[in-house]
Amino acid sequence: MTSLSEQYRPRTTRSLAIVTAMRDSSSAFSPVVAIERLRMAQDRFHEPVLTSEIVELFSSLPAGVVVDATLGGAGHAAAILSVAPQLRVLGIDRDPDAIEEASNRLAPFASRALVAKATFAELDEILEREVSFVNGDPVVGVLMDLGVSSHQLDEASRGFSFRADAPLDMRMDPTSGESAADYLSHVDVHEFARLLRNHGEGRFAGSIAKSVIDRQPRTTSELSEAVERAVPMAARRRGHVATRVFQALRVAVNGEEEQLVDGLNAALDAVSVGGLVAVISYHSGEDRVVKSFFADQQSGGCRCSPELGCVCGAVSRVHVFKASAQLASVGEISGNPRARSARLRIARKVAS
Ligand SMILES: C[S@@+](CC[C@H](N)C(=O)[O-])C[C@H]1O[C@@H](n2cnc3c(N)ncnc32)[C@H](O)[C@@H]1O
Repeated sequence: MTSLSEQYRPRTTRSLAIVTAMRDSSSAFSPVVAIERLRMAQDRFHEPVLTSEIVELFSSLPAGVVVDATLGGAGHAAAILSVAPQLRVLGIDRDPDAIEEASNRLAPFASRALVAKATFAELDEILEREVSFVNGDPVVGVLMDLGVSSHQLDEASRGFSFRADAPLDMRMDPTSGESAADYLSHVDVHEFARLLRNHGEGRFAGSIAKSVIDRQPRTTSELSEAVERAVPMAARRRGHVATRVFQALRVAVNGEEEQLVDGLNAALDAVSVGGLVAVISYHSGEDRVVKSFFADQQSGGCRCSPELGCVCGAVSRVHVFKASAQLASVGEISGNPRARSARLRIARKVAS
């Protein structure tokens, strides 16, 4: 007789991961309850985007180690491990909540997964520290699914969202660095206005920056109020301005721009020739950095005229899969609104 877990035919790679995790779990569990528990736990923490695309891409890799540099709730990592028995995953996240969630979620994969709390800019040191896990195998792929998880946004106490009142913290790692409120206590008003402009805030950037710096908000509600006061009623589209200001502040507090540049370099250094670097970004500023990093690595820094051909001897380090980013399908977006802004870019390393 087939078990319920065998009868349950996964329709998506996410479901497949859930079923595999369930099959690996103790037989004391009811399969139906286990499916529901795993699905609910994963959805509550974070529903990953473009999972089928990521799984298809990574499952084609040869045996070795994949670095999931933004582990979150380990949805991508679990899906990869479920379908690609030749791969092991070294998962990194700077958020202690993600480390706890991912450790539980990856426990059924036992020695095929290792979880480390670090920033992805520190990838090099983590690979050196975890030398016994890597065990001399090549790093065949690196995944970076940028930004914040649903858990970080939904957990009011983290202070990432204007939808709930909480201390204005916004640190992905609450044990290190300064909170958003502390950052606002010393940032120059012109610098803050510039940050807002870089994140798409147009004509009100200056007045929002002045209102925020004058009021020195210590909570998410105080920040929202300071923003509202600077924007005339007619120009307030519900949520829009606050969304941009909260995002810009989060990016600054977590040093996300510097992290991204350092992380991309570390990822490309770590991966072996023939391996992949895949990056999912969620706002145009991030996507621009990824696109131009890959383009530079592909051209090898060559600035020679295309008409005359390359005379500088530049060497391409990567081959970029497609000029345009891959987007989520309409079907995925309808089930997971977060997928709407996702942009996936992929490069294969062709030279060290
Ligand atoms: C979009 S979520 C990743 C979700 C994950 N792919 C999954 O399947 O659940 C982004 C995660 O990256 C982490 N993160 C963002 N920047 C980071 C950095 N510089 N270093 C390490 N982790 C980072 C965040 O803490 C968050 O947990």
